[in-house]
Amino acid sequence: MNYNNSEFLASYGLSRQLPDSDRPEIVFSGRSNVGKSSLINKLCNRKKLARVSATPGKTATINFYRVDTAYFVDLPGYGYAKVSNAERERWDDLINSYFEADRAVCLLVQLLDSRHAPSADDVQMLEYLHYHRIPFVAALTKGDKLKKSEMAARKEEFEKICAPYGCQGVVLTSAENGLGMDELRALLEASMTP
Ligand code: GTP
Ligand code: MG
Repeated sequence: MNYNNSEFLASYGLSRQLPDSDRPEIVFSGRSNVGKSSLINKLCNRKKLARVSATPGKTATINFYRVDTAYFVDLPGYGYAKVSNAERERWDDLINSYFEADRAVCLLVQLLDSRHAPSADDVQMLEYLHYHRIPFVAALTKGDKLKKSEMAARKEEFEKICAPYGCQGVVLTSAENGLGMDELRALLEASMTP
């Protein structure tokens, strides 16, 4: 797959219809501020394909990117403390409507902050993925913030946590220095080959 051939398509809220499901989709999910947009940019060798926010909770829509022959789908971040109940409900509706639309999802990349244990929201998301049998891998983000000496142990810890939910692989990544990008790309490509 040519990651250098990418473009932003559109943002979708509840009222807008999603684009036709005419190519495989790679979905990115995770807490607000975990680094979804940054990871998408790094995978695509772009600085501003996906908007990186200093203020969390900014991406309250599903953002679609076309990356060569696939779609990258950036889900709105969850777990941001300062949202109202109405906004939370809207998030639920948006996510459910996306997964219930029976689209060509070949893999979901669940982002988890490598420095912290999964939050209650993360665990809820893992349960959701497991329950709906959505194939997924975990990308541990901000790996550049870990000490070299703790990397292997951290990864192992997350593997143990994620495996019961059907996780197909754990990759330690960094959008800062490119750690894990080749490994993650290989998993994306494997999921797209029938
Ligand atoms: P929302 O769209 O609000 O849900 O956030 P997001 O998950 O898209 O996170 P985003 O990519 O906007 O990054 C949030 C913050 O984390 C930014 O300040 C990024 O610069 C920082 N960040 C993201 N990835 C990394 C990383 O690998 N290493 C470091 N050190 N910082 C990162
Ligand atoms: Mg974002």
